[in-house]
Amino acid sequence: MKVSIRPWTPDDAPQLAEIMNNPNVLNNLRDGIPYPYTEQDAADFIAAMRGADPDQTFAFAVTAGGAVCGSISIRRGANVHCCTAELGYCLAEPYWGRGIMTEAVRLTCAHVFARTDLLRIFAEPFAYNRASCRVLEKAGFQLEGTLRSNAVKNGVVLDMQLYALVRAL
Ligand SMILES: CC(C)(COP(=O)(O)OP(=O)(O)OC[C@H]1O[C@@H](n2cnc3c(N)ncnc32)[C@H](O)[C@@H]1OP(=O)(O)O)[C@@H](O)C(=O)NCCC(=O)NCCS
Repeated sequence: MKVSIRPWTPDDAPQLAEIMNNPNVLNNLRDGIPYPYTEQDAADFIAAMRGADPDQTFAFAVTAGGAVCGSISIRRGANVHCCTAELGYCLAEPYWGRGIMTEAVRLTCAHVFARTDLLRIFAEPFAYNRASCRVLEKAGFQLEGTLRSNAVKNGVVLDMQLYALVRAL
């Protein structure tokens, strides 16, 4: 199945709401995302991404076989981290395990490195999230270490894994 990334459009709100309205997805992400996740929440997110500074935020819908099935974004840091950016992503549960996010991460990082001065893209999955760690490894990220007790999610203290992909100089 062909995997692509493309900018969000307002018409994507129903699909995005379906992807996000799932505790199995949200439990692996940072807090602050509404649940239940409504079409209005999706429309607000899409509007924010479309209105964001195009040199700061790089947000894409992930499609497989033409259908929107995921969300991926890279956000530039500030101050001394202005050439560093954080990667985040999620995929609709029915699409898990088919290599889709690995391809989306590869496409997104290549796209951003080709068009910006960013030097480093990092991600911090929860350590238990082996699927996400594996995605990053398959996409060429290196494990730089374990961030011990770096998050409290749903009342549980969690380690995170720090992965990074650095531009070849
Ligand atoms: C994490 C997520 C993006 C993975 O996307 P995906 O398209 O299913 O990932 P891929 O199919 O490209 O690769 C998954 C890999 O993890 C492996 N994997 C899956 N579950 C695993 C587990 N419990 N233990 C070990 N490996 C596991 C798969 O076997 C595969 O590796 P392989 O190709 O070497 O066999 C998806 O599960 C998701 O959206 N989860 C919820 C949100 C989330 O976790 N976002 C990331 C936050 S950091």
